[in-house]
Order: sequence, then structure tokens, then C-alpha cells
Amino acid sequence: VAISAQDRDTIAGIPVNYKEDKVGNYREGLPDPLRFNDGRKVLNAADWTQRRAEILKIFEQNQFGAWPKENIPVRYSIREQSAEGLKVKTMHVSFSEREDGPATDVLIYLPKDASAPCPLLLNLSFMPNDKAFAPDVIQKFLSKGIGLATLHYSELEADKADGWMSGIRSLFPYTATDGEWGAISAWAWGVSRIIDCLSLQSDIDASKIALTGCSRLGKTTLWTAAKDPRIAIAIPSCSGEGGAAMSRRLFGETVAHIASPERYHYQFTPTYQKWGQDLKNMPMDAHMLLSLIAPRPLLLQTGSTDNWSDPKGEYISALEAAPVYRLLGKDAPSDPEFPKSEEPLFTTLGYVMHEGGHAVLPQDWDYYLEFLLKYF
Ligand code: GCU
Repeated sequence: VAISAQDRDTIAGIPVNYKEDKVGNYREGLPDPLRFNDGRKVLNAADWTQRRAEILKIFEQNQFGAWPKENIPVRYSIREQSAEGLKVKTMHVSFSEREDGPATDVLIYLPKDASAPCPLLLNLSFMPNDKAFAPDVIQKFLSKGIGLATLHYSELEADKADGWMSGIRSLFPYTATDGEWGAISAWAWGVSRIIDCLSLQSDIDASKIALTGCSRLGKTTLWTAAKDPRIAIAIPSCSGEGGAAMSRRLFGETVAHIASPERYHYQFTPTYQKWGQDLKNMPMDAHMLLSLIAPRPLLLQTGSTDNWSDPKGEYISALEAAPVYRLLGKDAPSDPEFPKSEEPLFTTLGYVMHEGGHAVLPQDWDYYLEFLLKYF
């Protein structure tokens, strides 16, 4: 379902490297998440709170663009469907009074007679709501007391260069103080408003909402979790470049590819394109995006043949973000050896690579469930 440019030599006129002996020295110019912009060291959790604010701003200004400060009223209504053995509801969320304004349906599955509010995995999806989860996935999650919810991302804003004209960004006056926001930021803002609505439901445990999405929606999962601390657990799948993969490795997709005018420039703030030509001086890299989620549990899911998304580059950024998790008293990968496929690491900053390509495979849902059960 997700479009991938796997294994072509040149994309958007820019060569693609798939050779380990040709990767960049990712350490060159790599910023340290545990050093303030002025060079001082981050020594404790209180320092980290301040450093985190600096890093968040770096990503707003250089990669995703900031959300507007003002709020707009969001309305929702709930419709319950009859279903055997489980509770199925559709939450219609509308972001505008405008008749043709952005609005979405969130499909929610909960156990039927739960005695307490239920933890929930929210899935940002490319699939129509009724096709997002296989029946056995729904059954497995609900039997363990974890609810599932899904929405189609393009209802928030269309995934194209002029999506801003009718989507979420059309609801706000143009402001570009901290970077003009790209489509990923708009999707992330929409998810955050949906969490406002989910948090008001008496059958959902607002302190246990996790988020997942694949590919560009893996990037969106990371950015939403960075912006919204209510996301208790984040599970980005195959998020690759602009997500969890270390940009400076120059393996598979690079910033120059993704931010090219021929590709996905509109998903980011315009400054991002410039860094494609000047990677060494780029003030951030993927490990800093991961660090914004610490100390919350974060599971990076990748695929062994998903070269375009650089699964190894995702593991390396987990290693580089690990000191932040450790500073905050949480565990994270430490073994420099790249893990084998289907051998999950369920540390608080976790990593799992399935055998296969750019997708969420059936076993991934089992990994997600195990990770959620461990940390909820
Ligand atoms: C393209 C893009 C990737 C993205 C993917 C997807 O391949 O280059 O960065 O992750 O689409 O969203 O499927």
C-alpha cells in the first residue's frame, strides 16, 4: 500500500547508495542531544527538560514546521454499531464549521464488558477504516484488554503539494514564525486533536494511548509523539528518512531525495530542502527526534529488505539516542552489533526488524501487542 522507491539507482535525478562501504561517516558534524546549543553538557533530568525544548525548536524550524499557537474548536460525535462480543464505535471528528472542511471518522474497537477504561492503540493508516486491521488482530488485542482505533490520514489533509489549500492548514491564517508547517505537521496536529476527543471517552484510558503508523505515517507517528506528551507509547513502522533513520549515513533515501521538489518537499518545512545539500551542518539528525520521545516507550519497527528506508540507520539512531533514555533512567540498545530479523529488543527504546520489506507484516502486530503489554 505504501509507495516505495526501492532499489532504483537514481531517484529525482539523485543517485541512491545501497552499499555499506559507501555510507557517509554519520558522526561527522553529528549534534549531541546531551549538549545544549551553547556547548554546555546536559547533566540531569532538569537540564534535559530545557535541552528538549531546544531540540523541539530545531525540528520545528528545520524539518517539520511549527503548529500554530491558536486553537480552533473541534467537534465530534459518536455512533455505536452493534457487534457481537465487542464494542464498535465511529467517532466523527470535524475540524471546521465549513461544510467542505476537513473531517474524519475514527473507527474504534473496544472489549465489550471491560470493567475499567481501556488502553488504546491508535493507528494512522493508508487503509479504509474497515480494512485496517485483520479480524485476528482485533481479536488478539481485545482479548488482552487493549483497544484499537484507526483513521485514514488523508482525511486530515490530502497528501499532495496543494493539500494545504483544503486540509487542516487551510483553517489557519498563514504564520511562519518557527518554520512554515508541512503536511506531516498538519497530520500530527490532527492526530493530537483526535486524542483530545479520545481522552474524553469514559471507556478509554487517556493515560494509555499509543500511536502507530507506517512509512510517512511512521514519520508522523514520531513527530506527533514528540509534540504531544499524551502519547504514552509510540510505534513508528518503517519510518526511514525524515523519521528514525540516521540521515548522515546516506544509505537509501536521503534528505536531498525526500525534500526534492519532485518528491515530498511539501511534507516538511521549506528549510529542510536546503539541508539536503549541507548535511554535515544540519542542526539535527534522527537520533534527536527519537530523544524527544524519551523517557516514553518507543518501538522502532523495520524490515530487513527495506533498503530505501535504511533499517540499519534506524538501529544506529537508537544507539545514539540511548544516552538520553539512560539519563532518564530507562533502558535502550547498547550492542553495536545490528540485531537479526525477528529478534525483537523490547527495551524502553526498542527495535524490531521483520524479515521482509516496507510494510507492517502480521507478526508485527504480535510484536506491538507484546511491547504494549510490557509497558502499559
Ligand atoms: C516514499 C518516500 C518515503 C516514505 C514512503 C511512504 O518511498 O520516499 O520516505 O516513507 O514513500 O510513505 O510509503
